[in-house]
Amino acid sequence: MLDEIARIQENAKNEIGSAGTLDRLEELRIEFLGRKGALTLILRGLKDLPEAERKKMGEEANRLRRKIEELLQEKELELRKTTSESILKKERLDVTRPGIKTERGHLHPITQVIREVNLIFVSMGFEIVEGPEIETEYYNFDALNIPENHPARDMWDTFWLLRNQKEAPSTKSQASKKSQKLLLRTHTSPVQIRYMEKHNPPIRIIAPGRCYRYEATDASHDIQFYQLEGLMVDKIISIANFKAVMREFLTRFFKTKIEIRLRPSYFPFTEPSFEVDISCITCSQKGCSVCKKSGWLELAGAGMVHPNVFKTVGYTTKDVQGFAFGMGIDRLAMMKYKIPDIRLFHSGDLRFLKQF
Ligand code: PHE
Repeated sequence: MLDEIARIQENAKNEIGSAGTLDRLEELRIEFLGRKGALTLILRGLKDLPEAERKKMGEEANRLRRKIEELLQEKELELRKTTSESILKKERLDVTRPGIKTERGHLHPITQVIREVNLIFVSMGFEIVEGPEIETEYYNFDALNIPENHPARDMWDTFWLLRNQKEAPSTKSQASKKSQKLLLRTHTSPVQIRYMEKHNPPIRIIAPGRCYRYEATDASHDIQFYQLEGLMVDKIISIANFKAVMREFLTRFFKTKIEIRLRPSYFPFTEPSFEVDISCITCSQKGCSVCKKSGWLELAGAGMVHPNVFKTVGYTTKDVQGFAFGMGIDRLAMMKYKIPDIRLFHSGDLRFLKQF
């Protein structure tokens, strides 16, 4: 029987020593100490032994039990330690690792340009005003000295908005004098009228906003675009003032010296009228594809406010003069950031937008 005990001990030592998991260890506990375990069988056999031998064997068997329990405990500690170490290793938190960036949107390039333009004009004493994008025929055309059936209307290809017949004002009503027919404004000039109806000179305003034209699109024309209207009215305002304001604005906006050229032109609401060209910033007037080798880029329409416009808004004194201009904001942005196609602005293409 002593042999048997020694054999069990040897066996337990080997088996427990090589157990790799806590589950395996539990199996071994049952195998050695369980109800049907090897040791239990020995203990059960004790009662058949003679008294003296029974005592000795009993002691030996109990020693073996303690030994096995000790082995099991040691192994359990060892296994628990290595598993918790591996969990720690797996779940280790490296606080120095760069975090996961959350995607953040940003302002559209046009909005950025409008804000920049606003800041420059505000610093020159201009006020920022706005008008509706859905305009009446009166403000978009008539009040700007562009009567119905006048060929000048052809200058603005218009999106007309159809209205319910019943809503249309009758020809005899007061409203018919100021046509309420709706359209998408073709320029920001109606804001001039809306502002002058409510304010007397001196006036210094800009009105940035979206405009619409019913025309075919190409790289430099879209059916929607942005304009910046400018209006300065006082007792003595001249084209020299206009040039000074323009030059100051452009130099600050493009952060480089810009030359201005005024070309005679025609707008019904200004007299004289002109187109404003600026020296090409892409080639510094050497001639490139952007300026079509001319060295100049067309940026705005402008002129001295027509007396009929002053009359329409109810200015009675002859002592008013002023200039107005309408500048293409998309053009400004395209020149500043060298954007080749105006349609990119509304393409929703993130590869484009993310560059700003
Ligand atoms: N409203 C004109 C256009 O869109 C531009 C302009 C504005 C011209 C103000 C003169 C004065 O073509």
